[in-house]
Parts: sequence; structure tokens; C-alpha cells
Amino acid sequence: MSLTSDLRVLWHLAFSPVRGKTHADRLDSFYEGQAGDYDSFRARLLKGREELISGLNPPAGATWVDFGGGTGANLEWAPWISHCGKVQVVDLCAPLLEQCDKRIAARGWTQVETVHADATQFTPQEPVDLVTFSYSLTMIPNWFAAIDQAWRILKPGGRIGVVDFYASRKYLDVGQVRHSWFTRSVVPVWFATDNVHLSRDHLPYLNQRFERETQSEHLARIPYVPLLRAPYYLFVGRKGDGSQAAAGNPPASNPAAAG
Ligand SMILES: C[S@@+](CC[C@H](N)C(=O)[O-])C[C@H]1O[C@@H](n2cnc3c(N)ncnc32)[C@H](O)[C@@H]1O
Repeated sequence: MSLTSDLRVLWHLAFSPVRGKTHADRLDSFYEGQAGDYDSFRARLLKGREELISGLNPPAGATWVDFGGGTGANLEWAPWISHCGKVQVVDLCAPLLEQCDKRIAARGWTQVETVHADATQFTPQEPVDLVTFSYSLTMIPNWFAAIDQAWRILKPGGRIGVVDFYASRKYLDVGQVRHSWFTRSVVPVWFATDNVHLSRDHLPYLNQRFERETQSEHLARIPYVPLLRAPYYLFVGRKGDGSQAAAGNPPASNPAAAG
């Protein structure tokens, strides 16, 4: 972490115009000036990734797709990566994948590769054991399609791990955290200026699609913005036999974190 690196990122977040006709063009335009500084700034902004990834621990030989994996930061939090059969970091942003390729080469991970593709469409050659999304659903316009695609490419019994920012619904199921009006209404507008769209529907949809193993909700501090707190969640689920889509999960029990 250095102040110069942080200032470069903050300048890009605040002032750099996002241009391009396609979603991929806009991602390249947003990230190309900050790709080299991405990891150190995001380590303080994107909480819960280490907790999520390190706890997944798939079986030996497992195949893993990290959707919207960017620079491949999640790979560092997977002490079990050496026993994976194949790992694919799928992202639409070329400058971030270049950073990921450098990381893979430096680490000598021969079972890991980057794939320049859209998470709503990418289909691996064989169904996989594990799919993850860390802070990528909020940047994928059609995130419903990305979750559906994760369900499609998982083996029966395969697992999904997600961590992301969100805002709660106004009226909730028992056990969920209800955010204040400010957090539900103002924080999403602040994030949307950088094309990060906090949704109230991620958790309900994940709970409908997958058999929930764990779910927790938290609040993160934002670097250089002392008063703002951003809610984020961790969700781990399993691909069931399809009956899940009709039945949904029972309400979660949550160590509440209101905001
Ligand atoms: C906030 S970054 C998170 C990156 C990484 N997962 C992490 O935790 O550091 C969001 C990522 O989603 C990627 N992304 C956005 N839309 C995408 C799409 N449709 N398909 C694949 N990746 C996408 C972006 O390029 C970016 O790398």
C-alpha cells in the first residue's frame, strides 16, 4: 500500500470517464488506468473474500471457475489451490486479466488459466465442482443470468460461494438484516457512479436457486470515507436436484449487523 497508488485509484474512481459502446469496452476503460494498483486498494475495500475463499476447501482434483475474477486475488486466499485439478479465472476485462496472468506465472500455478469471457455465457468443457463470485455480481448488468449460468455449469452437488455488496429490502424475511433508509437509498446511488449496482435481490435469488449452507451479513468501512458503511454478504450454497427452485430455503438466522 502506498499513498501514490491510492491517489491514482481514487482519481480514477472519482474523475476518470468510463467510455465504450459495449460492457467489455466500459470495463477496460474503467480499469486500465488502475489495474496495477487494483489489489492493494481493493484489499481494504472488498471485505470477506479471504474468509469466503479460504473456507471453501473443495476436494482433491476439484475444478473451480472464479467468475469476474479480475486480477486473480482470490487465488491467494485458496491454500487448497495446489490440490485443484483445474482453475479458470473468467473475466471480461483484459487489463485485469493481464495482472492475473502475471500472478499465475509468478506463482508457477500450471493448473490455473485466465479466460476472457462473459460470466453470463461462459461454459467450461466439463461441469465444475465450484463457482465463485467476489464483488462481481454487482458489476454484471445481467447478474440473474450469471447466477443461472453458475447453476448450469456446476455438477449436481457442486458449490457456489459469493461475497458482494448489497442493500436490504425494506420488508424482510425473518432472520435477515434490515438496513436504514440511508443505507438502502443513498449508499447504492454513491456506488452506482462507478457502475457498481447494489441489489436487494442477490440473496433472495441465491436462496431460491441453491441449497444454502451458510449466509452472513456484515458492514464494511470504505477507505477515505469515514462515515460511510457498505453492507456486504457471504453466501455458500450447493446445487441441489432442482426442487430448490420451487421450495426456497428456510429463513436464515443471522448475527445481525444493521446499517
Ligand atoms: C469489483 S471487481 C472484482 C474482481 C475480483 N473478483 C476481486 O474480488 O478482486 C468486478 C469484476 O467483475 C468483472 N466483470 C464485470 N462484468 C463481467 C461479466 N459480464 N463477465 C465477466 N466478468 C465481469 C470486472 O471486469 C471485474 O473484474
